[in-house]
Amino acid sequence: MHAIGIDIGGTKIAGALVDENGVILRSDRQPTNPNDPGEIEDVVVAMITSLGLGEDVVAAGVAAAGFIDAAQSTVYYAPNIHWRNEPFRAKLEARVDLPIIIENDANAAGWAEFRYGAGRDFTDMVTLTIGTGVGGAIVANGSLFRGGFGAGAELGHLRLVPDGLPCGCGARGCIEQYGSGRALLRIANEIADAGSLGADLAAARARHGKLTGKEVGRLIELGDPGAVAALRTIGESLGEACASLGAVLDPQVFVFGGGVAAAGDLLLEPIRAAYLEHLPARGYHPEAAFAIAQLVNNAGVVGAADLARIAALR
Ligand code: BGC
Ligand code: NA
Ligand code: ZN
Repeated sequence: MHAIGIDIGGTKIAGALVDENGVILRSDRQPTNPNDPGEIEDVVVAMITSLGLGEDVVAAGVAAAGFIDAAQSTVYYAPNIHWRNEPFRAKLEARVDLPIIIENDANAAGWAEFRYGAGRDFTDMVTLTIGTGVGGAIVANGSLFRGGFGAGAELGHLRLVPDGLPCGCGARGCIEQYGSGRALLRIANEIADAGSLGADLAAARARHGKLTGKEVGRLIELGDPGAVAALRTIGESLGEACASLGAVLDPQVFVFGGGVAAAGDLLLEPIRAAYLEHLPARGYHPEAAFAIAQLVNNAGVVGAADLARIAALR
């Protein structure tokens, strides 16, 4: 039985019709305005409607970048999109004739990796998605962990630096401010300012006024030392967080998704080194595996569809 998955990001909304083996049968993608929840709702409604046209669909899952309640209905808060106690499920169910669930975007992506991707050979997995924010998903003993209020696994808001940088969640020093795509840009700009490393980085910035994520990604690919140093810096922060996560959750594997994960081993190497350096009981505690997400851009839609199907058939 088919299900629809929608993934709302900071810059685009992706949607897909997905079968029970996680195979995408039809897909769609539209730009989004993170400051306009009404527009997001309209796009999601139109997408669910068109993807389901003439198909036998059991449910739709909508992955959203925020803290979501246990009933999979309300977005309590989103650090990077303007949602505050948004009753998203009720609004969507009033406009489309399908059961809907709202799921955290990283939970959806992590679940897809666990079912079909880099986590499929393990029982205990942590996924971190490295994009505009840092998202988290925990699979413990084969189940997705949600916590008592539904909003668990917000791993991007683990505190890494006491009294550190202010975060969109209202707290300070969160890993999101040191390990996200935005942090990568900030650090790359700082390196360009300092002017010591990466002539290409400085030149790219002079050309465009400021660096874009795309530009930094390209410079990383070309091996520009400044861009690679910025990537290494966020990798070290993420690796330190993984050591602490290892103490709590003891996963067999850490999976990295989101746009920045396209850097592959260049990202994994500093993460793994920092993890090994900070791991409690190091030298005696078994080492987790580190992997890049395999479903890449499709993880969110595939996971959201799968979780919606599971909820509808429960
Ligand atoms: C949000 C999470 C989300 C992550 C990735 C964070 O800022 O708090 O809910 O999963 O960004 O989009
Ligand atoms: Na999460
Ligand atoms: Zn935070």
